[in-house]
Amino acid sequence: MCRIIFFLLFLFVNKTVVLSQSPAYNEQYRPQFHFSPTSNWMNDPNGMVYYKGEHHLFYQYYPNGNVWGPMHWGHAVSKNMVEWQHLPIALYPDSLGYIFSGSIVVDEKNTSGLGKKNAPVLVAIYTYHLPEGEKANRNDFQYQGIAYSHDMGRTWKKYTNNPVLPNTNGIRDFRDPKVFWHKERNQWVMTLAVKDHVEFWGSSDLLKWKLLSSFGSDLGAHGGVWECPDLFPMKVAANGQEKYVLLVSINPGGPNGGSATQYFTGSFNGKEFVPDAFHQTKKPLWLDYGRDNYAGVTWSNIPVADGRRLFIGWMSNWDYAQVVPTTVWRSAMTLPRSLSLIKTTEGLRLKSEPVQELKLLRGKAVTIKAATESTRFNLSSASHQVQQTEWVIEFEVKDTNTASVYLELTNALNETYRIGCNVKQNQFYSDRTKAGNHSFSEKFATGIHTAERFTKNKRIKLHVFVDASSVELFADEGAVCMSELVFPSQPFNKATLHSEGSKVKLISAVCYPLKRIWK
Ligand code: FRU
Repeated sequence: MCRIIFFLLFLFVNKTVVLSQSPAYNEQYRPQFHFSPTSNWMNDPNGMVYYKGEHHLFYQYYPNGNVWGPMHWGHAVSKNMVEWQHLPIALYPDSLGYIFSGSIVVDEKNTSGLGKKNAPVLVAIYTYHLPEGEKANRNDFQYQGIAYSHDMGRTWKKYTNNPVLPNTNGIRDFRDPKVFWHKERNQWVMTLAVKDHVEFWGSSDLLKWKLLSSFGSDLGAHGGVWECPDLFPMKVAANGQEKYVLLVSINPGGPNGGSATQYFTGSFNGKEFVPDAFHQTKKPLWLDYGRDNYAGVTWSNIPVADGRRLFIGWMSNWDYAQVVPTTVWRSAMTLPRSLSLIKTTEGLRLKSEPVQELKLLRGKAVTIKAATESTRFNLSSASHQVQQTEWVIEFEVKDTNTASVYLELTNALNETYRIGCNVKQNQFYSDRTKAGNHSFSEKFATGIHTAERFTKNKRIKLHVFVDASSVELFADEGAVCMSELVFPSQPFNKATLHSEGSKVKLISAVCYPLKRIWK
């Protein structure tokens, strides 16, 4: 009895122990190194801002059920974007509506007047969604409001004169403001998703907004509604030239079905975004070709000394997000990624790489010793796990007619997941059709998901992260990435590299077991 009381007391004072020991954090599909809420429903990442040593992650949250419902902003902080501390809910719905997606800025110059002397204020700019207005079939039920915090994002006050940007244009979809400070024009710029295009709005004080321009109704993918945009400057890796990148999520209409995030490169003069010419003739470009990376945006206020453009996405797809076989909680975020712009013969491309902080999780590297040339390499052994791992596999194909080289994960039930490169067609692909449970949705295992490769190098590198219910591929140093959910009935315990068509030369293969982030 005494021991039980002591243990409960220990749990009470040491909250971090509670998480790793709670049954919910040990569920079969609970990600062990991705962010997920303690319980209930989560979708888009919101309000990502770095402030005084903390990376904030707010998120669309419904605390009373594990399907979508009246939206709140959940909240977590991290010192490294890898290990997270859960905090209380930041924003609750009010008489103006649910709290939809949005962003947070640090108002250094107190342009809003909401700050206190010598203490910059954090300002959240978000969409209000008024369900009564939607039910009444009105067109003006989405508008923008703000809230502010003086205590490092721990508590928030809603601005008394909300909304700051009412919906007067008669278009129902008017949401997901992402705001940044445009120093050349000395003003705030808000990028807003408006049905089939984005609008840029300008403001000197975050309180009054003026329309600057619109972009995109005749460009890019239009298979669904535009959501969660993000406009930010970025330097081209090779020559330091400054460009702007515009991310726009779209649902449905993604390259492999359902939700996905497209992007445009171009220039922005503080008023208008002018896309690079190649967008007129080329197919849309996608940040991630997998089915499960949606509504992602980048952190604001990252210190200049850091200099990275850091991104996180919601690791799910509206096609099935509400029915995936997890209980207590639903949805996780992708791994945090660092974005860069590279020059290719086809034009500029956005590259995503897992942030280096993830190396904190690495256990002892297992270097796989295998024959150098073969059609089949056994990559697993009893001495290391296959799930909760990071793989770095590099190989060279002998001839480009080789049909396909792939990493295959299997379990004792013979459920099989494949991710690799169809060399002949110059495509990466992910095949989860036989990878376990997919009975929850007809849209989950519809076919093989593909991604164009834009080099023809014979050397191919697969950098793969395998968590309890997801696989993320960063191929060719992040030039192509694919994020995919997968629900094996039992954990995968065998990994093999296969080549169909001809032998491949294995250059190196390393597996890192990863520590869980919940302590
Ligand atoms: C994207 C989205 C946003 C909206 C939010 C509502 O997944 O539809 O456009 O703000 O989710 O939860």
